[in-house]
Amino acid sequence: MKKKVRKCGGKRKFVKGRYEMKTKALVLAAGQGTRMKSNESKVLHQVLGKSLVEYSILAAKGVGVEEVCLIVGHKAEDVKKKLGDSVSYAMQKEQLGTGHAVMQAIDFIEDASEVIVLCGDTPLITKETLQMMLDFHREKQNAITVLSTIMEDPTGYGRIVRDDKGKLLKIVEQKDASEEEKQITEINGGIYTFDAKLLKHALSKLNNNNVQGEYYLTDTIEILLGEGYKVDAIATSESDDIAGVNSRVQLAGVTQVMKRRINEKHMANGVTFIDPENTYVEPDVVIGKDTIIEPGCMIQGTTVIGEGCRIGYHTKLTNMIIKDHVDIETSVLVDSFVDEGTHVGPFAYVRPNSHIGKNIKVGDFVEIKNANIGDGTKISHLTYVGDADVGQNVNFGCGTVVVNYDGKKKHRTTIGDHAFIGCNTNLVSPVVVEDHAYTAAGSTITKTVPANSLAIARAKQENKENWVIKKRQE
Ligand code: UD1
Ligand code: CA
Repeated sequence: MKKKVRKCGGKRKFVKGRYEMKTKALVLAAGQGTRMKSNESKVLHQVLGKSLVEYSILAAKGVGVEEVCLIVGHKAEDVKKKLGDSVSYAMQKEQLGTGHAVMQAIDFIEDASEVIVLCGDTPLITKETLQMMLDFHREKQNAITVLSTIMEDPTGYGRIVRDDKGKLLKIVEQKDASEEEKQITEINGGIYTFDAKLLKHALSKLNNNNVQGEYYLTDTIEILLGEGYKVDAIATSESDDIAGVNSRVQLAGVTQVMKRRINEKHMANGVTFIDPENTYVEPDVVIGKDTIIEPGCMIQGTTVIGEGCRIGYHTKLTNMIIKDHVDIETSVLVDSFVDEGTHVGPFAYVRPNSHIGKNIKVGDFVEIKNANIGDGTKISHLTYVGDADVGQNVNFGCGTVVVNYDGKKKHRTTIGDHAFIGCNTNLVSPVVVEDHAYTAAGSTITKTVPANSLAIARAKQENKENWVIKKRQE
């Protein structure tokens, strides 16, 4: 007689006239990651500016999960410090296996109807793939749904064992697999949806009778199948999505996939990449259409770039706001703002808290720090502008230095509109150059230069006639 299959639709609460599902997520992140050969927690290693574990958390939140709990152990304090209270934590003091890890979060799943389990080392998982698993799980009313995929080289992964009708029987780990089982190419992605109540029940029945002496989360499958519950695996065709990071080589491999996904998204939105293979754009960056990104750029953090810009080769932008039609050549810009039509570089360094206006020229070997630069100003070459407020249409001669530091304190300098700063001027801060004032080349300015005046602050030239001839005769 055929055994009756026990269905389960998750524990539901009847709230305000409808059943409510509460989906929670667990991210396993307690393992040491020995093969990384690192002093840091494996899950804090970064892929394009975000730690591995952050990607798993983002994917879970992307399918509407509000509460995420991280199982921490190895370097737990570092992980908590990095992620703060955006998630909750359960401590796994000894890493006795993935099943044991989940047991540590029993209290967290108490009031859940569904639990998504992810690993902290699979950063390529997308919310679309998670949603696909979740939809399948709910539609089939499964007790467990496993996310699987077909891997050309399945070495190292748990194998999905099915009967000849394709019905899931169990997952067998590489180390426990028979020669025949090792041939299976459908692998466990380490991502699952569980009915919360049945997960708790199955965890209470886990043992560690296997080659590694660990409590395997994957053994919950045989346990619940044995009790007649529905368990299935759904394969994603995006096998990249579940690629795990266990070594530096895999970290680099995952970075390449992430880079390609991000760059392709921008290209689909109308951004030109001359060499997408050699351009690293972090996930939160926004780029307007018809902007051209030249080879070797790194665009990081919360950077937002407008339309029709050119980001010249080997430029690094970190947390920048760049408006439309800005042209940047081989420069480094950090935590600042650049307005429309401005040109920067080559070899300029814009340091934090700078506000650079419209149609400005910031030329070669110019450094700007914590300064406001008014529209139309030209700082063409070899100049340092730190802690200054510069008006509109100012012209800086070559080699100007704002002398902002007296050895103890930083001071601010103010330069009015249309001022003309002669070459090689030192502006000893705090000092003011008023509107339309000039400084003579080579001046060291220590006092206010009044509007419309010329300040000459250098020794007068004296010519000693025939001095050279006399010297020669000596
Ligand atoms: C696990 C699966 C395997 C699957 C693979 C997918 C088990 C038994 N095996 O194997 O079927 O193909 O993932 O990548 O589940 N962790 C803890 N505490 C522990 C052990 C592990 O938190 O005690 C965490 C690790 O930090 C890691 C994750 O769980 O983030 C997976 O552990 P790992 O040791 O990498 O498992 P695999 O051997 O890769
Ligand atoms: Ca792994």
